[in-house]
Amino acid sequence: MKTTDATLKLKIAVLFGGRSGEHEVSLLSAKSVLEVLDPAKYEIFQVGITHEGRWLTGPDARAKLENGNTESLTPCIILPDPSRPGLYAIRNTQHGTILEHITLLDAVFPVLHGTFGEDGTLQGLLEMADLAYVGAGVTGSSVGMDKGVFKDVMRANDIPVVEAIILLRSEIEKDIQSAIREAEAVAAYPLFVKPANLGSSVGITKCNNRADLAEGLLEAAAYDRRVLVERGVNGREIEVSVLGNEDPQASVAGEVQPSREFYSYESKYMDGTSALLIPASLPAETAEKIRSLAVKAYKAIDCAGMARVDFFLEKETGEIYLNEINTLPGFTNISMYPKLWEASGLPYTRLVDRLIELALERKAERDRTEHRFRRVT
Ligand SMILES: Nc1ncnc2c1ncn2[C@@H]1O[C@H](COP(=O)(O)OP(=O)(O)O)[C@@H](O)[C@H]1O
Ligand SMILES: [Mg+2]
Repeated sequence: MKTTDATLKLKIAVLFGGRSGEHEVSLLSAKSVLEVLDPAKYEIFQVGITHEGRWLTGPDARAKLENGNTESLTPCIILPDPSRPGLYAIRNTQHGTILEHITLLDAVFPVLHGTFGEDGTLQGLLEMADLAYVGAGVTGSSVGMDKGVFKDVMRANDIPVVEAIILLRSEIEKDIQSAIREAEAVAAYPLFVKPANLGSSVGITKCNNRADLAEGLLEAAAYDRRVLVERGVNGREIEVSVLGNEDPQASVAGEVQPSREFYSYESKYMDGTSALLIPASLPAETAEKIRSLAVKAYKAIDCAGMARVDFFLEKETGEIYLNEINTLPGFTNISMYPKLWEASGLPYTRLVDRLIELALERKAERDRTEHRFRRVT
């Protein structure tokens, strides 16, 4: 493998924290990733992004971000200009602020969830910088992030999703009665209201009546300009991990049994009692159908590297609905994404290695693309 280093170690920047509501979740995911990256194979540069969006590097950046003691860390930056590659320190000197080169990079591993990490914005910077990076590119990330656009792309590909509409915050604020009428036209209660671009169940309300709905619309609108209203499904929650670039593979299916009425933030991260059943107990045919839909959805949004694809299996009808895709899913060693791969024969350490390989393969594929007009002579 080609590296930037004579010692043949790949230089990898691991990014974590970030400006989203999932900052803390990211620190947990990054802890597991950093623990298994083999120091014989990789030279690791930890880059923590604070809630405010400052980039800070240093050997213990993750632990320091977690403890809120970041003074000793070095402010750093990746520039969008590929002629100035890798990681730079930002230093204040008596002559003003200067940039000092820290290292070249072979790849970036963004262990960031949600806005400014999973939504294509960071991916845009890394494309500009001409860097290899783990996970989906700009399109896959941004389409995967917006639950409304994502559902439209699924419908266009004959992948079943529940009935839903998007309302804008400006519409909700202007005329809540009219927003309620539109929402109630989607389906009978219960309805789910959620911010279109968020994760970890933040801002999501299960609405059993009109009063809940009015409250839910305002709650979701606090978190996003775009609010999704959808039919509540009484379903089992089935998840599949997908891995790969051009020829992605699906893991076995798993099931989440939330500890609360739905898989809320508390139920995901605070109770510790939501059960992950791996593999999910399903008829072989249903499991196969779900796995193939997961791969189809992955390809439809031009995903790369990895994604976890989540489904509802409706209890009354047996219908399968694709709920959402997570292009940077929870990644601690006890998270569903790696657990499903472990159960499919790929242990956590090898999974992390494979993701870095996929990042390099994708970059090599991208480098084959002609960016200038090739004049035929
Ligand atoms: N239409 C729905 N019907 C039933 N439950 C839902 C629906 N939408 C969301 N939920 C519940 O809320 C949880 C979080 O919603 P989800 O769309 O997965 O957002 P997030 O990106 O925050 O995980 C789901 O895991 C599920 O428990
Ligand atoms: Mg979810």
